[in-house]
Amino acid sequence: MKNTMIDYENLALLNEPFHDEYISSLNSVLKSGWYILGENVKKFETEFASYNNAANCIGVASGLDAITLSIAAFQFEIGSEIIVPSNTYVATILSVLQNYMKPVLVEPLIDTYNIDPAKIEASITKKTKAIVVVHLYGKSCCMDPIIALCKKYDLKLIEDCAQSHGAAYKNKNTGTFGDFGAFSFYPTKNLGALGDAGAVVCNDNDLAKTIRRLRNYGSDKKYYNELVGYNSRLDEIQAAFLSIKLKRLDEINKHKRNLASIYLNNLKGDYIKPVVDKDYFDVYHIFNIRHPKRDELKEYLLKNNIKTEIHYPVSPNNQTALKEMFKNQQFPISEEIHKTTLSLPISFFHTEDDVYRVIEVMNGF
Ligand SMILES: Cc1ncc(COP(=O)(O)O)c(C=O)c1O
Repeated sequence: MKNTMIDYENLALLNEPFHDEYISSLNSVLKSGWYILGENVKKFETEFASYNNAANCIGVASGLDAITLSIAAFQFEIGSEIIVPSNTYVATILSVLQNYMKPVLVEPLIDTYNIDPAKIEASITKKTKAIVVVHLYGKSCCMDPIIALCKKYDLKLIEDCAQSHGAAYKNKNTGTFGDFGAFSFYPTKNLGALGDAGAVVCNDNDLAKTIRRLRNYGSDKKYYNELVGYNSRLDEIQAAFLSIKLKRLDEINKHKRNLASIYLNNLKGDYIKPVVDKDYFDVYHIFNIRHPKRDELKEYLLKNNIKTEIHYPVSPNNQTALKEMFKNQQFPISEEIHKTTLSLPISFFHTEDDVYRVIEVMNGF
């Protein structure tokens, strides 16, 4: 047993409990002959809106598109500034650039890895139109001061919830604090599809209508176009799969929270562990620790048949595609996180025994 490999992720194993239901739903979609914007998409949208206690949900093609369309819905002037955290996954920044706007990077807090509310105000200018917060790793951002800033400066608020399905702050789900909650259902996410998929959650009915049009060539009536839109639709097969998995999202989150608490209670030594606070319901899309000898630790774990990941090895400001844009700016906190962070196995298929074995090996490092 000791020598079997513990994978970081294994999507076939993760999805095994859903196979029978997936196959029967796939058969129904095949027989229905309706593959785009049909009953399955409508059903999932209703269920996911209700899960989040939101008025509307609009299925789209990916998490990146969910953020891109959310920004596009406001039709800000080209060149407007949008605030985003400096240590996010690159997609958040791409969504701003794809709208021909300027991403303004704000550093995170070193203990929560989420945008530092105290650092936002200094970055607000006359051109700032919105803040895109990212609930990274499955922990909500500290929303009260961010909402206050949005009110004070009349800014729109978009939440990147790609990693925070079911996570909450003061008992309210992420994705429901701002104008839009943008979700990814990329297969590895807590609520993952079997391909690319995403959704936008929002309470305002007019904004919801705009997203519905934007995802479908700017149209809500066939061959009549109100807006310059995109083709970014959630498809029927993925929607059917998502409805099946959504029924067990709370169980998935509970499983991950249990594995996280085992790590939190038993990892000893120099590991900087995720912070826990009563106002935050964390869903641990990623369970990361930080360690000054991260690369050595990763090697050592691999030698002991434990696979880990790094989220993320390169900070956005140092990416080849972006570094020219941010060349005169410093992001020491992001860079420290990128240098020291390591993500440990915490999938739905991992057992408590897997996690105890990871801990035993890590405590011997
Ligand atoms: C924080 C964050 N934002 C956006 C995305 C983009 O989602 P997708 O891969 O569905 O486009 C991801 C996905 O990896 C993410 O982690």
